[in-house]
Amino acid sequence: MNESDLLGLVRDDQVHRDIYLSAQVFELEMQRLWRRAWLFVGHESQIPEAGDYVTCVLAGQPVIMLRGLDGAIGVWLNRCAHKGAPLVGDTQGRSARVLRCPYHGWTFNLDGSLASTPLRSGYEAGGFEQSAARAGLSPWGEVQVYRGFVFARAEPGDPGFADHLGELLPALDLLADRSPRGRLVVAGGVIRTSIAANWKIYLENINDAVHPVTTHASATLSARAVWESEPREGSPPLAMRQLLPFGSGYSFFEQMGGRVLPHGHSLLGTQQSLHTSYTDLGDYGLALREAHGEARASQVLAFTPQNVVFYPSMALKGTPQVMRVLRPVAADRTVIEAWAFQPEGAPEALLESALLYNRQVFSPMSVVAHDDLYLFEGIQRSLVARGNPWVSLHRGVRGAGDERLPRDVSGVDEALLRNQYQAWREAMGERAGASA
Ligand code: FES
Ligand SMILES: [Fe+2]
Repeated sequence: MNESDLLGLVRDDQVHRDIYLSAQVFELEMQRLWRRAWLFVGHESQIPEAGDYVTCVLAGQPVIMLRGLDGAIGVWLNRCAHKGAPLVGDTQGRSARVLRCPYHGWTFNLDGSLASTPLRSGYEAGGFEQSAARAGLSPWGEVQVYRGFVFARAEPGDPGFADHLGELLPALDLLADRSPRGRLVVAGGVIRTSIAANWKIYLENINDAVHPVTTHASATLSARAVWESEPREGSPPLAMRQLLPFGSGYSFFEQMGGRVLPHGHSLLGTQQSLHTSYTDLGDYGLALREAHGEARASQVLAFTPQNVVFYPSMALKGTPQVMRVLRPVAADRTVIEAWAFQPEGAPEALLESALLYNRQVFSPMSVVAHDDLYLFEGIQRSLVARGNPWVSLHRGVRGAGDERLPRDVSGVDEALLRNQYQAWREAMGERAGASA
């Protein structure tokens, strides 16, 4: 595929099916887009002590996020410097002062340097001292931590971290300040779902506020039927308060409001969201006012986005405090992680709300996610059908030159989706030919 064919796959108002289907496009995405983006790796609360680590896949590469002896967080390729065995095999753990490879027992310090080999002799005559093996673990690239969220970028370049994230940084401040102490803690484990669909099908759906009316009708009808079969005294339980808003009509979603940001990022639900009605649980609002003062607490509680998208790897909700992380594996395979946060110093009810939400909405065993996943996997299969090879993104197009950033749009404007593809085109077009 030549460069103009590649960039021609994304137009201003529609995208070609090959961006979802082609293994070649997927490889180029990993090289040009994912390796040069600030990707979400993990949260520092997952590795509180020196030697703690978690593993994940970034841009198709296995990595370890590790806390060093000095407390700094490093991101390393999970590949032993000797013969390439995975240095750690589990998704999280704690090492002593060194990481020991399970294959031949080479050990590495927490700063990635080689600590020891089991047989010290035999290396004198060769070029070992100058070799990549002797240099130890390979770093992933630059690492930045903001309010506990760890991001990394494999290849240096512009824009820098603060410029790249832009308005997402004050959004992260608002989410972290949902803790009276200003700190979030990952808690309650993770729900991982491996789906047979391209990562972009999942990511664009996070900004798709038109689909709940049809896709999730069965979930809301079921929830309503259960609730109406019970005695109707008092307010609905939290499980119902989380599910019933999915049955809101088009005008609700339209008025939700969205904000389109540079570099593919976005805020959906700037005015209201499905979560607005349960932002302030119990005495929580009071605790927040005492901690942050009236003005800041009101600002924090009023920020109830449906989704804050950190293109291309992550999306956050403020209430409940949950996060979805995209880990693309192949053109037709993506792992989705759903995590929950507890705001430190906040009532336990907030964590319970986040965990309940993940179980009810993001688990493949839930009443919501399976409707989405069924369709995502179906799209991946149906896109190969002969005939129209284009996917429409026309809703809200107002003519050339009107896609300026940042700007506010209605909640159902496909500008939120088009924006992801404009970022895609910019990333894929940069350094054209350099890594094809
Ligand atoms: S591959 Fe790790 S010690 Fe040999
Ligand atoms: Fe959905």
